[in-house]
Amino acid sequence: MKGLPFFAGSLCVFAHTAWTVELVLDDAASVKAAASTVAFGLMKYYTGNRTGDVPGNLPAPYFWWEAGAMFGTMIDYWFITGDSTYNDVTTQAMLHQVGDSIDFMPTNQTRTEGNDDQGFWAMAAMSAAENNYPNPPKDQPQWLALTQAVFNEYVSRWDTATCNGGLRWQIFTFNNGFNYKNSISNGCFFNIAARLARYTGNSTYADWAEKIYDWETAVGLITPDFRVYDGASVAGNDNCTKVDRIQWTYNAGIYLHGASVMYNLTGGDDKWRARVDGLLAQTQAAFFANSSITKGGSASGGVMFERACESAGLCDTDQQSFKGYLARWMARTAQMAPYVAPTVAPLLRASATGAAKACSGSPSAGFAGLPGTACGFRWTGDGFDGSVGVGQQMNALSAIVSTLVVGDGSPVTGGGAGGGGVRAPVTANTGGTSVGNANAGMQTNSPIPQLPPITIKDRVAAGFLTTAILFSVVGGGVFVIK
Ligand SMILES: *[C@@H]1O[C@H](CO)[C@@H](O)[C@H](O)[C@H]1NC(C)=O
Ligand SMILES: *[C@@H]1O[C@H](CO)[C@@H](O)[C@H](O)[C@H]1NC(C)=O
Ligand SMILES: *[C@@H]1O[C@H](CO)[C@@H](O)[C@H](O)[C@H]1NC(C)=O
Ligand SMILES: *[C@@H]1O[C@H](CO)[C@@H](O)[C@H](O)[C@H]1NC(C)=O
Ligand SMILES: *[C@@H]1O[C@H](CO)[C@@H](O)[C@H](O)[C@H]1NC(C)=O
Ligand SMILES: *[C@@H]1O[C@H](CO)[C@@H](O)[C@H](O)[C@H]1NC(C)=O
Repeated sequence: MKGLPFFAGSLCVFAHTAWTVELVLDDAASVKAAASTVAFGLMKYYTGNRTGDVPGNLPAPYFWWEAGAMFGTMIDYWFITGDSTYNDVTTQAMLHQVGDSIDFMPTNQTRTEGNDDQGFWAMAAMSAAENNYPNPPKDQPQWLALTQAVFNEYVSRWDTATCNGGLRWQIFTFNNGFNYKNSISNGCFFNIAARLARYTGNSTYADWAEKIYDWETAVGLITPDFRVYDGASVAGNDNCTKVDRIQWTYNAGIYLHGASVMYNLTGGDDKWRARVDGLLAQTQAAFFANSSITKGGSASGGVMFERACESAGLCDTDQQSFKGYLARWMARTAQMAPYVAPTVAPLLRASATGAAKACSGSPSAGFAGLPGTACGFRWTGDGFDGSVGVGQQMNALSAIVSTLVVGDGSPVTGGGAGGGGVRAPVTANTGGTSVGNANAGMQTNSPIPQLPPITIKDRVAAGFLTTAILFSVVGGGVFVIK
């Protein structure tokens, strides 16, 4: 399935003046056609394969991490739909951004790269390994080894000087956010540790997954009722006592998915089952709203929304992409813990339906896909809300293809758990072919580069703090991040 968006013959969209994203759930051809249209609009934002541009980068205002998230999304898109249209640009981008030390720490990104930024590229590489995405030539970096390199570097950065452990948000002391330990950075570590454990069978990774999860709960970043808070300060004597309690979809999703992998790896361990149940229940309570779609339709479904900023219209560029990751991780959770598929499927189906309706824009600027198919941000209404961008396209794409994974929510049909017939991620013992290196990233731990003083014009890091204002003294000056 290569080429421009295709449509099921029965959908006579060619008669319309504008294209539309029509979505008929349970009709795989319709879902793939919708996904293809949305993917086309998404990849129109990507300029990194143009002559003179840098492979792997998205143009401003998108930070480097979001490009990593986008290629991870495209790797899943290929796996779920079979459409290889974007594989060549994806592989080119992934390999260009590995950097000199083969660990997703390219020198160009030193100013903006935190542990979470590196993690989104590592998770894309992990998805490539799990999906048996085509391997690079033998003399090039390999997906599994890249993920192991990032894992090993995370281990070396585990910081027991404060809060009894945890990763700081930032890698480099000179970047803002070094004095903050956050759930997304530790979530990236947890997520790849669990997945490496499952893929390789090496218990060292599983031990780390246990340790990271325990740490998150010990410092109160995951609460007894499974809220996942943003992070905690380690400035001065704070020692994680000051917690930023904002909840984001992607923090819930990254722990939910990692917990489901641990549940699967342990053969259905009660402890991990309770965590999957708790995180999923909290996710549903916090991030799924009633809407006109669900009122008329599936009673048990709700439509995903970014509670912290969506209703007020205050989500920033980063935050506008989070819902897509939650959709991807929920679908993967339904594969790893098939007993939750009946809960997850209605949520993803209602969200995908709302997303497809929101992909009906023809904005005069900011979108280069097919007219009538620009995806808005809000899925709880009945159409396009005027907000366009990489995140909006990526969210809708992930929601739509996730319905192919979960199907109608019946526990097992076709080739995989979760009801949708999409096969579960592979492991080294079930057909995985990616070549690993348990010691990757250990010898070549990126040296801290020498840089001139940061000026206010430099881009701030990709993560964010909504409620906290951080001050950092760098090169003799003081500056504030938004
Ligand atoms: C870049 O990739 C897009 C697909 O995303 C493709 O249509 C385009 O031809 C590519 N451009 C170059 C110069 O390779
Ligand atoms: C770093 O930036 C230079 C100059 O723009 C570019 O040529 C190079 O490809 C970039 N490297 C990476 C890994 O992005
Ligand atoms: C810092 O917090 C950890 C738990 O998060 C605690 O075990 C440790 O004693 C605290 N250190 C100080 C100096 O308060
Ligand atoms: C683990 O995942 C596989 C693949 O989806 C599934 O068949 C199996 O039932 C899962 N194990 C448990 C304990 O749910
Ligand atoms: C959704 O609607 C049902 C029935 O009207 C109601 O019980 C439930 O509380 C609503 N949930 C939310 C999140 O508004
Ligand atoms: C398991 O992973 C650890 C940590 O990377 C590594 O030191 C060890 O060699 C690995 N064991 C095997 C058998 O690959």
